[in-house]
Amino acid sequence: MRAPYHRLSIAEDPKNFVSKGQVLALGINARQGGTFERRLVAEGYRTVEFFEHEGSVGMNVPVLDLKAEFEELRGEILPALERVCTNASFILGTEVEAFEREFADFCGTKHCVALANGTAALHLGLLALGVQPDDEVITTPNTFLATAEAISYCGAVPIFVDIDPTTANLDPKLIERAITERTRAILPVHLYGRPADMDAIGEIAERHNLRILEDAAQAHGARYRGRRVGGLGTLAAFSFYPTKNLAAYGEAGAITTNDDQIAKFARAARSHGQTARYEHEFVGYNYRMHGFQGAVLRVKLRHLYRWTAKRQQIARDYRRLLAGARLELPVDAPRDEGVYHQFVIYTANRNKVVAQLAARGIETVIHYPRPVHLQPAYSSLGCPPGTFPHAERACERVIGLPIHPGLTSEQIAYVANAVREIVGIE
Ligand SMILES: Cc1ncc(COP(=O)(O)O)c(C=O)c1O
Repeated sequence: MRAPYHRLSIAEDPKNFVSKGQVLALGINARQGGTFERRLVAEGYRTVEFFEHEGSVGMNVPVLDLKAEFEELRGEILPALERVCTNASFILGTEVEAFEREFADFCGTKHCVALANGTAALHLGLLALGVQPDDEVITTPNTFLATAEAISYCGAVPIFVDIDPTTANLDPKLIERAITERTRAILPVHLYGRPADMDAIGEIAERHNLRILEDAAQAHGARYRGRRVGGLGTLAAFSFYPTKNLAAYGEAGAITTNDDQIAKFARAARSHGQTARYEHEFVGYNYRMHGFQGAVLRVKLRHLYRWTAKRQQIARDYRRLLAGARLELPVDAPRDEGVYHQFVIYTANRNKVVAQLAARGIETVIHYPRPVHLQPAYSSLGCPPGTFPHAERACERVIGLPIHPGLTSEQIAYVANAVREIVGIE
């Protein structure tokens, strides 16, 4: 982010609309801020930082603004944290139990089992499916390492299948040829909040008697043919890492499922295999969610509908404003309702584009710079460059633009204009 010479609080919510004159009156010097600015944010104003860029005004656009989000929620978050302290329910406890019920309702599943993080959810999810050493699990190389790591934790082997370049998700057409007698499960990732093609994957799984674990870490609330992710496979793993659409104030994750046995297993496995206090039926893990995280997640879940609608609106705005620019965008299938954890574009000369956006104050993320099969951690799989060409091309070209619910329409237009200027028009 560039050093600002001015911070300005802008009313974004129409009910707080202020005229241009009033906006200027709300301008506060970059060295000030503090309480006054906090109050403005709490009232629905957004703070935007300006600086001088090549003779004109530049604007800082962060990929995320968790401080502003906290100011907006301060009045709800602090009492929720206090409840945890008052009840001294620091590990699992009443807030976590309430969150489990509320999140299961949200996903339309019978169970939610709250866990320590999303990687733990993937790990327990695979164990619940009976994945054992030397089994194979089919997944995408275009994901965060944790997806593959969870397979390795079980002693099993990740078998990568290339992505569909139009969606960046696992290509179902390529799955069947990767199935062997050792294949135990399929692990699709709903990357960037866009659901994987679950009907096509489900048909293959059924034909080969395989079960499906959804990696829904980036897709809270996304819908596939009208049904929420989380209940589309045998079970799903969610992450509530602080940058996610539904995010804790620390590490947190969960499994959702309609299967009673799986939920029962996950509840015991997260707490040292206990089915009752000091009754350890098997060797489990310490994968429990903290009470504070449950409390924060309950508060944030109530805002998730509004935040998701805002992300979807920003995505529509970007698509409209970027029409004709020399870049590629993933395709939104009409059957899907994605939740836009990331809004990605694909460009040639990615690093140059990123540097030029940074010079204009625009932060970007690269999800991901290298596919999992080309990471040193998975060199032993022996998949050289060229093995999964679509995933590799995506990783060379992908750029994630800022898409958080706190963005103002000025920032969205500023980002889109900058991208058009940098990549050019077709
Ligand atoms: C696709 C995907 N899978 C798994 C994870 C792991 O989640 P966590 O960081 O909560 O362990 C993440 C989050 O970083 C993710 O994005």
